Amino acid sequence: MKKITIVGVGRVGESTAQILAKEELCRELMLLDIHDGVPQGVALDIQESGALLRFDTRVNGDTDPAAMADSDMVIITAGIPRKPGMSRSDVLDTNLKIIDGIVDNMLRYAPKAMLLMVTNPVDVLTWHAWKKSGWPRHRVFGQSGALDTARMATFIALETGYSIKDISPLVLGGHGDAMVPMTRFTDIAGINIEHFLDSKTIAEIVERTRKGGGEILNLKKNSSAYDSPAAAVAAMIDAISHNRRRIMPCIGILDGEYDQHDMAMGVPAVLDETGLIKIIELNLNEQERADFQKSAEMVRADINRLS
Ligand code: LAC
Repeated sequence: MKKITIVGVGRVGESTAQILAKEELCRELMLLDIHDGVPQGVALDIQESGALLRFDTRVNGDTDPAAMADSDMVIITAGIPRKPGMSRSDVLDTNLKIIDGIVDNMLRYAPKAMLLMVTNPVDVLTWHAWKKSGWPRHRVFGQSGALDTARMATFIALETGYSIKDISPLVLGGHGDAMVPMTRFTDIAGINIEHFLDSKTIAEIVERTRKGGGEILNLKKNSSAYDSPAAAVAAMIDAISHNRRRIMPCIGILDGEYDQHDMAMGVPAVLDETGLIKIIELNLNEQERADFQKSAEMVRADINRLS
């Protein structure tokens, strides 16, 4: 990609920018924020690290939305984060207004870009941005499964002692406490985790994965996670930038898949240079289907609040 814009230079935005710049996933990185001085300062700081980390990515910062012009990709990380005790849905009303303004700017200045939503509640905001943009669904998607599977993989690695590189979990559903870690589709080097872990331990890992964001927020108190969310965004950008056709769980717009219509949720998807080009439908068993349905109802409740 030639140009990526990150809108919202908070902790997730800054961490994401660092990785994208260092990995040279685009020629130009534009950081946009409403607080004058912040995007410019962060951009300069990252740019100066390039002399040591050896990257050529050009990093600029601005407060003028027109600076997103000609972006191939816009990543939205702007919004207020939740505080301890809040759910991701509790920040919906505030973040909705912020996202509305950003989508208006995208329609004006970057009408051909892809949109990657990171701001919470990410499922409903991905849906809302897609509706508002009127863009084809392959160009509007969200991050959550990359992060949720990273957390699940970490817990499995800690529990078994085996390399994280061989652990391949799958987490579907909304990015909330009702997300659906899919143990039947989770393996270590092709061997299902039931071979290594008893059912009680697996159940604990599933629960810890569901509450993974809250665990970090409760520890840090004044900040949500940002290093792993940024790495998750970067993994998706890497797949798109290199046209890898990676299969990753992403928030996609569902049009009949998994019996959901006019909806956005975490599903296994294929990412190529044009975006989220394919949703992979799995044959769920009864329990998995019920869990997915429960998660869908929670996302649907937020969507209904908007309509
Ligand atoms: C998390 C928040 C950022 O999962 O959604 O850490």
